[in-house]
Amino acid sequence: MIARDQIIQALHERHACKVFDANKKIADDDFALILEAARLSPSSFGFEPWQFIVVQTPALRERLKQHAWGAPLKLDTASHFVLCLAMKAPLLDPHGDYIPRFMREVQHHPEAIAQQRLGFYTQFQQSDFDLTDERKVFDWACKQCYLPLANMMTVAAMRGIDSCPIEGFKQRETDALLAEQFGVNLHHYGLAYMVAFGYRSQAPQAKTRRPLSDIVQWK
Ligand SMILES: Cc1cc2nc3c(=O)[nH]c(=O)nc-3n(C[C@H](O)[C@H](O)[C@H](O)COP(=O)(O)O)c2cc1C
Repeated sequence: MIARDQIIQALHERHACKVFDANKKIADDDFALILEAARLSPSSFGFEPWQFIVVQTPALRERLKQHAWGAPLKLDTASHFVLCLAMKAPLLDPHGDYIPRFMREVQHHPEAIAQQRLGFYTQFQQSDFDLTDERKVFDWACKQCYLPLANMMTVAAMRGIDSCPIEGFKQRETDALLAEQFGVNLHHYGLAYMVAFGYRSQAPQAKTRRPLSDIVQWK
């Protein structure tokens, strides 16, 4: 159990850090903990529809600036800079190679259980959740990718580490760059978001949030 005050403090401390102290590096074990928070995140059917690329090479960070208007200051100063790729329809196809293999090799489902779950998953995609075109499947995977994002940022804040989530990029152009420079297979993956980690160099602005009574209804 973590004390209530520590949880509240971490949630308040987490803010969208606009510029980091470029001289401060996150310790390896702390960054490993942040990645572990991503790894242990929940996902629909447990399929983990994500990949993370930690971009530490200055030349690659420089290239990312080209189409990422929300990122340049963070790319220059963050201790660690992460790209989250979301899986696309060919990988998430119940009848493709990836999902049946994932069920056997990662989830260790016996064949009969795997077949039963594949049936549920097929129905879920085709009718329950209307994941009937490639864009819908990619958006569904992206939604799930935001769970590791939140977990990484919260765990970072619990360790006194700052972060900034970034959607300020041109998706098509950045995906093309990822294919050219990072070897990303765009048939299988697309960029969901970027997230920077490090230590603040300036005090954050005061938080603004609606009161709880405006966002929660009890019935
Ligand atoms: C999905 C998402 C995308 C965001 N994209 C950017 C971005 O590209 N650049 C940036 O500086 N901040 C970005 N932000 C930060 C938000 O502006 C910030 O979280 C919001 O204003 C609330 O402030 P706080 O996080 O400091 O409490 C993003 C936040 C989220 C959740």
